[in-house]
Amino acid sequence: MIKLKHIYKSYSLGDEQVDVLHNINLHVKPKEFISILGPSGSGKSTLMNIIGCLDIPDSGDYILDGEYVDSCTENELSEIRGKKIGFIFQQFNLLPELTAYENVEMPLLYHKLSPSERRERVERTLTQVGLIDRMKHKPTQLSGGQQQRVAIARVLAAEPSIILADEPTGNLDSSSGAEIMEIVKDLHKAGNTIVLITHDKNVADQAQRKVYVHDGILTESEART
Ligand SMILES: Nc1ncnc2c1ncn2[C@@H]1O[C@H](COP(=O)(O)OP(=O)(O)OP(=O)(O)O)[C@@H](O)[C@H]1O
Ligand SMILES: [Mg+2]
Repeated sequence: MIKLKHIYKSYSLGDEQVDVLHNINLHVKPKEFISILGPSGSGKSTLMNIIGCLDIPDSGDYILDGEYVDSCTENELSEIRGKKIGFIFQQFNLLPELTAYENVEMPLLYHKLSPSERRERVERTLTQVGLIDRMKHKPTQLSGGQQQRVAIARVLAAEPSIILADEPTGNLDSSSGAEIMEIVKDLHKAGNTIVLITHDKNVADQAQRKVYVHDGILTESEART
């Protein structure tokens, strides 16, 4: 379902070119749960942006569900993201003026759903993350772990098939982090494809398969430490 072939990506800063990804080859099967491990600055988020259709590679092929994504326009990329991909970040990115319920509901306002279908999805996903009793709370009235669970409910409400998580436990203490990982594992059991980026080995170990990024090079085994 996710196939990256010979992906290269660099950024130019002034007249300097920063090579970030070198010849990345990666195949993620449908319903697979993989983690991508690597030190800071190794290119993990750059890779996730490409997998998540937020950015396109300089060269190489990215084939997502049989479609060559590397030649898509901005509009086509945004449509693919909306239909297929859910993002979970280290920062929860909740809107501070809105309640938990309203934060989850917000992206659904752009979907063609009746008010009752919308309410059903918001309530179902808040229940799924164990926060239905906090739906009237605003982000500042929730703990960090609870805020991340609201952010996950917001992702789930859009019913993506692929979930990309970039350091989802990075801002959390170990017990809140463990709760988030339980939810991620449940999503995998429910049939989602999961790509989890982390530099925490204990978090990465919970995936079915680990790959490593070092200096923009991806390997299936831990080549260096
Ligand atoms: N927009 C950009 N312009 C220039 N350089 C960039 C840009 N984005 C990232 N980089 C550089 O690319 C390299 C990889 O960055 P990336 O964010 O992918 O690393 P990472 O593995 O996610 O690190 P971390 O674990 O700290 O999040 C870094 O050296 C970074 O400075
Ligand atoms: Mg990063």
